[in-house]
Amino acid sequence: MADKTLLTPVLTRFWDEPESWTLATYRKYDGYTALPKALGMHPDEVIQLVKDSGLRGRGGAGFPTGMKWGFIPQGDGKPHYLVVNADESEPGTCKDIPLMFANPHELIEGIVIAAYAIRANHAFIYLRGEVVPVLRRLQHAVREAYEAGYLGKNILGSGFDLELVVHAGAGAYICGEETALLDSLEGRRGQPRLRPPFPAIAGLYASPTVVNNVESIASVPAIIRNGVDWFRSMGSEKSPGFTIYSLSGHVTRPGQYEAPLGVTLRELLDLAGGIRAGHRLKFWTPGGSSTPILTEEHLDIPLDYEGVGAAGSMLGTKALQIFDETTCVVRAVLRWTEFYAHESCGKCTPCREGTYWLVQILDRLEHGEGTEADLEKLLDLCDNILGRSFCALGDGATSPITSSIQYFRDEYIAHVEKGGCPFDPMASTLFA
Ligand code: NAI
Ligand code: SF4
Repeated sequence: MADKTLLTPVLTRFWDEPESWTLATYRKYDGYTALPKALGMHPDEVIQLVKDSGLRGRGGAGFPTGMKWGFIPQGDGKPHYLVVNADESEPGTCKDIPLMFANPHELIEGIVIAAYAIRANHAFIYLRGEVVPVLRRLQHAVREAYEAGYLGKNILGSGFDLELVVHAGAGAYICGEETALLDSLEGRRGQPRLRPPFPAIAGLYASPTVVNNVESIASVPAIIRNGVDWFRSMGSEKSPGFTIYSLSGHVTRPGQYEAPLGVTLRELLDLAGGIRAGHRLKFWTPGGSSTPILTEEHLDIPLDYEGVGAAGSMLGTKALQIFDETTCVVRAVLRWTEFYAHESCGKCTPCREGTYWLVQILDRLEHGEGTEADLEKLLDLCDNILGRSFCALGDGATSPITSSIQYFRDEYIAHVEKGGCPFDPMASTLFA
């Protein structure tokens, strides 16, 4: 029997309501009650409260949100900006898009509070361009918020002004990297910038800028409403709070599950009806394909930054992609690597050239034309990409390769010995 008490519906608390995306529904569920509270505090008090809550960035890196806000220089005479990274594109990651689709006002309320805290009068939502229905929902919600006095001049009579722009990107994975996103927002081709300086010092238009993930910002109103102790009563000491896990692949009920940080995959699978009938878990990703894969032996590790880190992977975006025993790991890794080669922005050689060669080698292994020596070539190439690429995309491309060779070397060798893929491509419902 699945333990439903594990679920902590906060951001997802009214997704099932008809017209959940409207201002009227959001108000029914305490919407915009955190805003007057925050506007009644000093901006530094709001930053301190978010610091005390221990909220960590939900975009993948887990950087402390309040600390990031605290980096914004004060009294510098420059405009400050808040940019919400809504360019969710990591394979398997599907939390920000449904969140904005079902509950856009929670994000908008969080934006006003965050902008007030960092003294920004302009905020942007940089949305992945392909998701036109979400763009329409956001635009509708922004209009409603302006009409209700939650955006614009003198918000709720506080004297604080905020203009919010929803910007649709053109669909490049690299524009989810925060500095490439800023270049794209400025109207240039999106390519990563050298850090430091971090955006907190020189971001949009070279001004201090906070770039935060959608889920991070949307978590702020609940923290203001319910307090730090409430937030810290969930999760672990170093990874407090609730979060949205996306479960996909060979699972009975794929979808979004909101639960505390630190739950285990076994518990989440229990809620999701388990692995599809008659099959068993083979491997999984904790945070999308940029994080090293894990196996059945890791079913009980706590899904928080420390627990997944200790298992040799990363929590990342909490995109749990589940694969059963019918899946060829070489094929899955080839598919991901093709994605990275396609999305590489081309700025630096290790990633641009390296991902191309990774695909060539994986492709010949999968099709029975590889040799055992190709495994060492793959590892050598990964070694030359990891830590030598300009941004995290290159590093991320190596994760599924090195970890799959660590856990499934025999399966790679079986491809060489059999002279082809030992798996029936029709048995797996994925990667058809
Ligand atoms: P990072 O760890 O370099 O930085 C995290 C954040 O902290 C950034 O906003 C950065 O500006 C800030 N920061 C770090 N050190 C700072 C300092 N000393 N001063 C001021 N600010 C500082 O991580 P990065 O490269 O920004 O993101 C990589 C993560 O993105 C990966 O962990 C991956 O899981 C995730 N990712 C998410 C995707 C998605 O679709 N949500 C897609 C691809 C990757
Ligand atoms: Fe571009 Fe890849 Fe280099 Fe990042 S690592 S700058 S995506 S070429």
